[in-house]
Amino acid sequence: MGVEFVDLFNQWASSYDDTVSGNDPEYKEVFEGYEDMLELLAGLSISPVMEFGVGTANLTRKMIGQNKVVIGIEPSSEMRRIANLKCPQAAIYDGDFLNYPQLITPIQSIVSSFAFHHLTTSEKIEAIQKFNDKLESKGQIIFIDTLFKDEAHKQALIHNAEKSGHLNLAQDLQEEYYGYLDELKEMFSKQGFEVSFKQMNKYAWLIQAKKGE
Ligand SMILES: C[S@@+](CC[C@H](N)C(=O)[O-])C[C@H]1O[C@@H](n2cnc3c(N)ncnc32)[C@H](O)[C@@H]1O
Repeated sequence: MGVEFVDLFNQWASSYDDTVSGNDPEYKEVFEGYEDMLELLAGLSISPVMEFGVGTANLTRKMIGQNKVVIGIEPSSEMRRIANLKCPQAAIYDGDFLNYPQLITPIQSIVSSFAFHHLTTSEKIEAIQKFNDKLESKGQIIFIDTLFKDEAHKQALIHNAEKSGHLNLAQDLQEEYYGYLDELKEMFSKQGFEVSFKQMNKYAWLIQAKKGE
């Protein structure tokens, strides 16, 4: 479950870095400030780190560059192939947010960029429960992802994308499982996390959820 997008990512892998560097006009605003956002996230993470949806290892490389131990999880074989080439120092395993190898390393941070929206609401809840079990006390979940403030905000962004002729983006915004601010807040709070949100660009938000003692 939760990996229905993997074929698409196998196809996208070879041109993915081109997209995030702003060369695809449809997704330029989605990935605006991409490198800075990943740099910020990397700096907030505490080792040992578990990263979900590694993609082509752009965030992984930044954390490895800061001498952190990173265990990466990525369901797309093509993404894993490129990630291993770009970041041979990281251990990158086949898996997804819900199914991954059970390693004994104590985890201080669970991080992910632009991937949590691949889970439905019930899958997100299940994943957060598992993160809670996995994290050491005072550990943190730190994500960057597109989310909507509310339904009106979602509709405004879709309308905006359509008006700009960005029809693939408009379709993504409708079909993928981007969360709503209040809904995500409740998911983390119910599991005992102290959660905060910060908008990073028109679409992306930083989500920081701290586990208690
Ligand atoms: C938009 S890319 C983001 C890649 C990278 N984190 C970045 O910031 O550039 C989304 C990644 O999530 C992965 N993915 C898709 N479904 C997933 C799932 N259920 N669990 C974990 N990763 C998933 C995709 O294969 C892809 O590599």
